[in-house]
Amino acid sequence: MKKFNTIYRHIVEAERKYPEATGQLSDLLADIALACKMISLEVNRAGLIDILGFTGDTNVQGEEVKKLDVYANELLTNMMKQGGHICAICSEEEENFLPLEDKFVDNKYVTNKYICHFDPLDGSSNIDANVSIGTIFSIYKRVSDNGPGELRDCLQKGVDQVAAGYAIYGSSTVLVYTTGDGVHAFTLDPTAGEFLLSSENIRIPKRSKTYSVNEGNHNKWSKGIKDYVSYLKESDPGTGRPYSSRYIGSLVADFHRNLLYGGIFMYPADKKNPDGKLRLMYEANPLSMIVEQAGGRSSNGRIRILEIEPKALHQRTPLFIGSEEDVLAVERFLATENN
Ligand code: AHG
Ligand code: MN
Ligand code: MN
Repeated sequence: MKKFNTIYRHIVEAERKYPEATGQLSDLLADIALACKMISLEVNRAGLIDILGFTGDTNVQGEEVKKLDVYANELLTNMMKQGGHICAICSEEEENFLPLEDKFVDNKYVTNKYICHFDPLDGSSNIDANVSIGTIFSIYKRVSDNGPGELRDCLQKGVDQVAAGYAIYGSSTVLVYTTGDGVHAFTLDPTAGEFLLSSENIRIPKRSKTYSVNEGNHNKWSKGIKDYVSYLKESDPGTGRPYSSRYIGSLVADFHRNLLYGGIFMYPADKKNPDGKLRLMYEANPLSMIVEQAGGRSSNGRIRILEIEPKALHQRTPLFIGSEEDVLAVERFLATENN
């Protein structure tokens, strides 16, 4: 019989391992879980209540904004504002971070200890086609002392994250998170309205037989990437080749499948996107913390994603993430591409 546990109990049990914990992180994670539950409800009703389609606006990324993007962004932002504990909110959908004042409680200021980055809705282009989409979040401790959060609180290396996770809104809604003590997954029971523990201490296979990349970009890739993808297509049963190609176009969905079955996801730099397409703070860092906690690897082709020193909120990065031996292999192809 699978161990019965809810995400709220799991979070509190994890907190109890740290006597000095104030409970702020647990409250914050519980708030995010609630927001994901509410987004899941809207995603599942989207086709019925005319929340599909475009708003007619474009976001800071220059992408057309979907109504569900707006809903998810506003919900998460308001949840963070009201829940407290956050001194700065950084959303993929917003140009700048949103600094929040310390709370004044019982005649004294209580410092909000954390900052949060999130991609409120990942895979937006897939919303109207009923393809899995997701929400990604990343939490850091502030580095400034108190008061409204500052840019330096928001530009920390991924290795300094205290928690990271994502929700995937698919055939069921699953929330996956880590606080640095393993990767755990919870499946939403819509009747009980609870995220119930479905997998604890998830480990990604060291090598896989699946690769995920948008092959439409082939002619824009560097020689090393072209050679690596060609290598995966060669027939060599000893190394499980040819690999299968799986690409959904929602990072969270491709990542989640690879986390469970093994696989490498790649969004390389190319002639059009010299730093790749995916965002360091909202997508690459949180998923990299998760994959490393699960025994996988994540790099920009040269160094660990988590070691990249951020220079800008919406900074992009090439991303190679998944089974450790597959990521190491593509790094070898890139290291020798100019030889
Ligand atoms: P978002 O919807 O948050 O902008 O993210 C979309 C990203 C990611 O989810 C996916 O892996 C990638 O865009 C797909 O890009 P291409 O369509 O260029 O392959
Ligand atoms: Mn995204
Ligand atoms: Mn998004």
